[in-house]
Amino acid sequence: MEKLAVEGGRQLHGNLRIHGAKNAALPILAATVLAEGQYTIQDVPHLSDISVMLDILTAMGAKTKHKESNVLIDTGSLITSHIPKDLMGLMRSSIFLMGPLLARFGEVIVYPPGGCAIGERKIDLHIKGLQALGANIAEFEDHIHCTANRLFGADIYLDFPSVGATENIMMAATRAEGKTIIRNAAREPEITDLQNFLNKMGAKIQGAGTPVIVIEGADHLEPVEYRVIPDRIVAGTMLLAGCMTEGDLTIENIFYEHIESLVSVLRQCGVEIERAHDIIKVSSRGLLKPVQRIETGPYPGFPTDLQAQLMVFLTMAHGPSIIRENVFENRFKHVAELCKMGARVEIKQNEARIIGGTRLIGSEVEATDLRAGAALILAGLVCEGTTYINRIHHIDRGYDRIDQQLQSIGAHIRRIPG
Ligand code: UD1
Repeated sequence: MEKLAVEGGRQLHGNLRIHGAKNAALPILAATVLAEGQYTIQDVPHLSDISVMLDILTAMGAKTKHKESNVLIDTGSLITSHIPKDLMGLMRSSIFLMGPLLARFGEVIVYPPGGCAIGERKIDLHIKGLQALGANIAEFEDHIHCTANRLFGADIYLDFPSVGATENIMMAATRAEGKTIIRNAAREPEITDLQNFLNKMGAKIQGAGTPVIVIEGADHLEPVEYRVIPDRIVAGTMLLAGCMTEGDLTIENIFYEHIESLVSVLRQCGVEIERAHDIIKVSSRGLLKPVQRIETGPYPGFPTDLQAQLMVFLTMAHGPSIIRENVFENRFKHVAELCKMGARVEIKQNEARIIGGTRLIGSEVEATDLRAGAALILAGLVCEGTTYINRIHHIDRGYDRIDQQLQSIGAHIRRIPG
């Protein structure tokens, strides 16, 4: 086991290119089972979640290769739609295979998916959606068996705009007979990216990015070459790192409109942000103002995946701020770790009150989940002394070699034996 040692007090300067989005790449990789043949997916980051998805595809008979940032997949040799139980339990995103495998093979067995322990993380909306398309679903103690000779278009209303359920239903509906409408669909940029990928394959989908997505079943889908969008959560984390260290950072391969909710908060706090095409420059000097209240929400709301990182930033603001977490019910695990470093945060149900103006002190802490781990790195970059972060396998699920990335812009961060 390794840990990260982060020395505080270094300003970050220079240029950083943001890698492709994990949350776009994962459903796209799952969607490759919809049509047999060879795909090239570009700008896919080297992350443990991506490796697990490729291991699952390989275990089912596909040929996969992750060379530099390209993933080459041949799904022509897929022989089974049975996802190995041990691999399925390693990450939540294995559930993305349920819709496409059902559509292609007429049968799929899935086990409870793993993932960050940030809440109950049910899959009822995925199941209801597939049932509406005509799937028979039998739930057993440790697995779910789905079958469908054919899938038929349906009008589906999601009780909550779940990202994963929207994507699963979209993928299955591409091979259903007739028209499917998903109402109250999630609007995240990764859903638009999946629509663009599927349409390149020959699917007929419109409306991604709005609450109503319409999918006409397609007779023929074929493999394609595709580049995934930049990772807006990694970009947001790096922007925060630049502001917090009072550095001058130029971030490349970033879609400004995908991080507008963060930019708006940063500007309220007094950070200077300039943009040009796919480049953003961030610089921050002096006192940061607090924000009255920020709520996380489905896109275009403030992303829950940046809540922990924003909290660390707000410990530096001069005055108290409030963050309300509306997406996951158990996503304040980083608070106890930050408090070990001297942060003062009070939690009441799903609201955190951050008392600003605190000086963080290096300490030994644990990455309790992926984004909590990223938040601790930010805390380490600005604290007095050295922070040791354990359980960093969580961070490697979502940030491609984050230590090297940060070193390249002047951070003192290294992996050491745990
Ligand atoms: C995706 C992202 C994750 C992000 C989250 C919210 C990927 C691979 N992961 O996760 O990084 O934090 O969106 O932006 O894209 N829910 C149900 N029933 C369901 C499905 C979801 O009740 O069937 C609930 C969840 O428990 C949660 C909320 O809906 O409280 C949001 O979940 P969802 O949007 O589905 O997130 P994921 O797709 O798991």
